[in-house]
Parts: sequence; structure tokens; C-alpha cells
Amino acid sequence: MIMKNIFILTGAGISAQSGLKTFRDTNGLWENFKVEDVASIEGFEKNPKLVHDFYNHLRPQMLSSMPNKAHLAIADFQKRYSDGEVNLITQNVDLLHEKAGSREVFHMHGRIDECVCQHCQKVIKTLSDVSFDMPCPYCRALKLKPNIVFFGQMPMFMDEIEKMLRTCHIFIAVGTSGVVYPAAGFVMTAKYYGAETYLFNLEKAENNFYFDHQVLGKASETLPDFLENI
Ligand code: OAD
Repeated sequence: MIMKNIFILTGAGISAQSGLKTFRDTNGLWENFKVEDVASIEGFEKNPKLVHDFYNHLRPQMLSSMPNKAHLAIADFQKRYSDGEVNLITQNVDLLHEKAGSREVFHMHGRIDECVCQHCQKVIKTLSDVSFDMPCPYCRALKLKPNIVFFGQMPMFMDEIEKMLRTCHIFIAVGTSGVVYPAAGFVMTAKYYGAETYLFNLEKAENNFYFDHQVLGKASETLPDFLENI
């Protein structure tokens, strides 16, 4: 049997059919909010209330949304695929992969259900609103930040992800515009180490050039069949 490791990178587009807004599409989140105000370290230091309000608004939407056929197809694929590893890396802070039944999900940009104390670095589960005047339950400092990677911060799990990229045989990106690095560069690394690369997106991505195959359309319609036939 030939081993084939699979690397799956997902972005906001995979959750669009679940009713969550993407960032850069028409009427996306970054059309209505300035990214530097609500998703940067400088923005958070300047106006933590605005940043908490932004994520407090998103949290209930994300927590109440349900996975769609694309999330479910990935979870099912992970369970039945036995010819190698299936690594799932998401840029999304929603929990739809987990709700679909995926077990080990690498949230490289953090999670909506967590905040982190910037004083003691402890991570705290957060299912309801957070504000900048709430004390950390561990050290009592008033320094809670959503556990979301802001521009100006290093994404999470980069060492593990680098190893997975070097050893994958098939690289699949789903619902991501290919604009934000380092995630947008993963396809290059995978290709450099010999992987065959696939994009499942509504439209061409910015990093288009590095994909051997592109399937344009809604991921909930295009991805399940493809995974069924790997
Ligand atoms: P974007 O909003 O930049 O891109 C979403 C992509 O999904 C677009 O290219 C759409 O064409 C595509 N899309 C929309 N609906 C789709 C569907 N039903 N099926 C397939 N594709 C669809 O989102 P990301 O690439 O995930 O970071 O953005 C990357 C990062 O930028 C995010 O993680 C976020 C943001 O700033 C942080 O917040 C840290």
C-alpha cells in the first residue's frame, strides 16, 4: 500500500453555507469593520472595548451555527481514510469542524470560545461576552484578550504545520482567498516538497498560481464528491 498524507487547510468560505460571513467577499466582515481596528494588536491596545464588542457580537452567531456538507465530508473522510494522515488546519475561529465530528483541528488563528490573559498567558473558555474590565480568573489582572491571532502576532502551531506540509502528498485548500500569510504560503511549501495541490473555492484565489487543480463553486457542493473518491 502506498501511504498518502493529506493536508486540508480551510478558510472562512467553508463556513459561508452555514450562514457565517466571510472576511473579504461583498458585505464581508472587512467591508463593515476596519481590520486594523478590530484585529490588530495596535487596535486592541487603543480601544479594547471596540475589539471585545466585535467578538462578543460574532461569538453567539458562531456558537449557534451548524456545520454544512463540506465540514461533514471532511469529518467523515478523516474517520474512514486509512492510507496515511489527514491533517486539518483551519484559519477559522468558529467550531464547525468540531461540531461536524473532526477531532484534531489545528486552529492556527485561534478560537472564538477562548480568551487569553495577557498577563499570566492562561487560556480561559469563554462562551459568553467578555469585557476589558473583567479580571482574569487566575491572576486577577484586567488583561483579557480574545484568543484570536491578530495581525502583528504569530499564528499558532506553526512548527507542527511546517512538518505536516513537508510530508503531505495531497494539499487541499478550501474556502480561502489566499491573501493572508503565512497560510497563503502553505501551498507553496507543500508543492515545493512534492505535493499535488487542490483548491476548492468560489472564485480564483490570490495564490492561484500554485494550485495544480482548481474546483470553482460552493465547497458544500464540490468537496464531498472529491473526498469520496480519494
Ligand atoms: P476570506 O474572506 O479572505 O476568503 C474567503 C474565500 O472563500 C473567498 O475567496 C471566497 O470566494 C470563498 N468562498 C465564499 N463562499 C464560499 C463557498 N460557499 N464555498 C467555497 N468558497 C467560498 O477568508 P480567509 O481566506 O479565511 O484572520 O481569510 C483569512 C484570514 O483573514 C482569516 O482567518 C481572518 C482574516 O483576517 C483573522 O481574523 C486572524
